[in-house]
Parts: sequence; structure tokens; C-alpha cells
Amino acid sequence: MLIRVKLYRNHESLFKEFDVALEPNHTVLDILYTLKENYDPTLSFRSMCRAGICGTCGVKVNSKPVLACKTKVGELEHPITIEPLDNLPIIKDLVVDHSVLMERLKKLRVWYEPLGSNLQTFKTNPMVDKSFECIACGLCDASCPVFLTNQDFGGPMSFLRIYKLTQDPRHSKREDSLLRVKDGHLQLCTHCKNCSMVCPLGLMPESIIKFEEAELIKKGLISQNLSNSFDFF
Ligand code: SF4
Ligand code: SF4
Ligand code: FES
Repeated sequence: MLIRVKLYRNHESLFKEFDVALEPNHTVLDILYTLKENYDPTLSFRSMCRAGICGTCGVKVNSKPVLACKTKVGELEHPITIEPLDNLPIIKDLVVDHSVLMERLKKLRVWYEPLGSNLQTFKTNPMVDKSFECIACGLCDASCPVFLTNQDFGGPMSFLRIYKLTQDPRHSKREDSLLRVKDGHLQLCTHCKNCSMVCPLGLMPESIIKFEEAELIKKGLISQNLSNSFDFF
């Protein structure tokens, strides 16, 4: 079937429209390759694994941040509008600058520093276990209303990835990592849950932020009224 695709081209600052022959099981990434190969070889977008693993193909489709390689045509309303992610500088067309994401990880020192011992196993809760699956696609940061407006805010990706460090007994700087959460101004989170709704792996960064907030409050590192926590019923 022919489907109308509206595609953002940044050098013209406009949407170009194409009618593309597609099947429901084609992905948004298939659309982009079809457009590049058959209509416009100058179109720029990013992809590597084509399997939802490398996290590099994030784009906004019908206003929602998604992985292009994991989003099927059959799941989408028509016309299909494809734009670059929000909150990150555009390099060209659909290619955004991921260094903004990496800078925030670097600022909060979100990396593992092993203990000297050869401790191999540990028990934790399933949400922490799942957070190890984060592919650093940045869709959560691209959907976060605070990420763009406050450069000091660590962002949901950093907060999710640092949480596993605070819980992992093999990491030698657990207390330090928790202090970094505070440095990342986690209490500015509005708990809008955008990050949890767009995460392609269902990692629920907003819930992790709530755990971190509770831990910071328990340790007296932030006060209850500094936290924006809401209860949802
Ligand atoms: S819940 Fe917090 S971190 Fe997640 S998108 Fe909303 S403001 Fe950002
Ligand atoms: S938490 Fe989810 S949306 Fe955010 S970077 Fe990791 S995988 Fe991507
Ligand atoms: S191309 Fe690797 S996640 Fe989509």
C-alpha cells in the first residue's frame, strides 16, 4: 500500500512529503533507507544494529520518541511524520548530537569502579537488574521537559544508569554515586513520567528516580519538601 510520509529536512527547515510503498511489517528505519535509496541520497539519519540494541536510531515519529528500527508501520497512524529527537542539537536532518547525553553521564561519573575483591554475584531487586539493559538511546532525555531547560539536571538516562551503581556491591564508590545523584539535581524531576512512557525497553526511569529520591531523603541528603514527588492513584 502507498503511505504518505512527512519527513523533516533541516537544511530547508520544512517537511517534505513522499508516497512510499510499504507493508505493515516494515519499520521506520526501512522507510528511511527506502527514501535514501530511491528518492533522496542526501538524506541523513543514523543506524547501526537494526535490532534495537545499539540505541543510535532514535527519531520522533508522530510526535513520540522511538527507535526507528523497532517501530513498525502497522502500529502507526497515517500520514507518518518523522522528525529528529527533541532536546538535542540537530547535526543534519534526523541526526542529533549524542555528545550532550554523554556529557551528562560524564558529569555525574556514571561508570563502574570495581572493588579489589573477586565478588561475582549479588542479590538486588528486579528493577535494578533490568536497568542493566539500558542501551543509552537517550529517548528518555529527549522526552524530558526538565532536560532541555536545566543544564545541571542529570536527566533520566543518567539517573537510571547511576542507580544500578548505588546498588551494586561490586562498585567501590556507591556512596559517591548517590551523592552524584544529588549533584544532578534529581529533585527537579516533575514526575511527568514521559521518560518511562517512551523507554523502548520498559525500564521505567521515573520509578527509579522515586527510589533514588527516597534514598536521598532517608540519608538526609535532600529534604522531603525539596522533592517534587507526587502520589498517583
Ligand atoms: S519523570 Fe522526571 S526525568 Fe522523567 S521525563 Fe518527567 S521530569 Fe524528566
Ligand atoms: S532508560 Fe530507556 S529510554 Fe533511556 S536511554 Fe536507557 S533504554 Fe533508552
Ligand atoms: S539501529 Fe540499533 S537500535 Fe536501532
